[in-house]
Amino acid sequence: MSNTMSIPNGENPYEIYDLESGLKLLREYSGIPDEDVKKHVELIKEKALEVRHYPCIRRYRFLDLIMMTTEVYQEVLERVKNGDKFMDLGCCLGQEIRKLVHDGAPSANTYGSDLWGEYLSMGYELFKDEDRLQTTFIAADIFDDSSPLAKLSGQMNVIYVGDFFHLFNLEEQEEIAERIVHLLAPQPGSIIIGRQSGGETAMEYSRAGDVSGRKQFQHNPQSWKELWDRVGNKTRSKWSADVELCQEFKFKPSVRIDTSSEVQRLMNAKGLRFTIRRL
Ligand SMILES: C[S@@+](CC[C@H](N)C(=O)[O-])C[C@H]1O[C@@H](n2cnc3c(N)ncnc32)[C@H](O)[C@@H]1O
Repeated sequence: MSNTMSIPNGENPYEIYDLESGLKLLREYSGIPDEDVKKHVELIKEKALEVRHYPCIRRYRFLDLIMMTTEVYQEVLERVKNGDKFMDLGCCLGQEIRKLVHDGAPSANTYGSDLWGEYLSMGYELFKDEDRLQTTFIAADIFDDSSPLAKLSGQMNVIYVGDFFHLFNLEEQEEIAERIVHLLAPQPGSIIIGRQSGGETAMEYSRAGDVSGRKQFQHNPQSWKELWDRVGNKTRSKWSADVELCQEFKFKPSVRIDTSSEVQRLMNAKGLRFTIRRL
């Protein structure tokens, strides 16, 4: 199978993500033969979309491994090998955890949490590892103080958050950031790594076709750093934020001529990648 699994023209306004690393993981970690991969991935993708139609699932984001491309990946890997605890928050199918484990991190030091327990089970199905993975998976709403997730307060050392913050408005994002601070060990060196949709302009927006009135917030590097300054003040902690905008995909305006503000936003959207480290 080629590493650019195609999506029917017109369905997806983006150039497809780079799926090579995820396909390699399915081959080497999960032992899925090349000839079976496409059918296997499509089956899980369709099941995952039935739980909730996240655009990132439609675009196979679960096969585009991000953390391994960051400057802190080797540090994270070594730390987890030496006993640090790693959590992927909003992990969905849990691809980042599998990559870390495949690279030698003891799975018992890893945690994955998502709102939907179905995604956690589908992760086992996608990666064929239920019999060997010792990751602690927790189905929980990040906003729920009575969830088992809240009981892990102060125990994590590294938290990865991919395509998560941008689902929420600014107020909710600040609340999530505070909750992440509380999940982490209250000591220098605790880190948060992630990526989300961002852009040169920080702004509130509603997704195209979303008539619920729900707002989401897109950051630029400055507004994202400011959020962490505010969260630091509220939690009496200090954080250094390393943030960059990356051109990860290209919008294809030819797919659909649309002048709506949401399409204009998408045309200029970039990946906002960050490492936030406790000082
Ligand atoms: C857009 S997906 C990104 C998945 C994954 N992190 C990745 O990068 O491929 C966002 C994930 O956040 C989860 N999520 C949404 N709201 C949540 C909440 N309130 N608490 C916990 N997880 C949530 C969704 O179920 C979904 O799996």
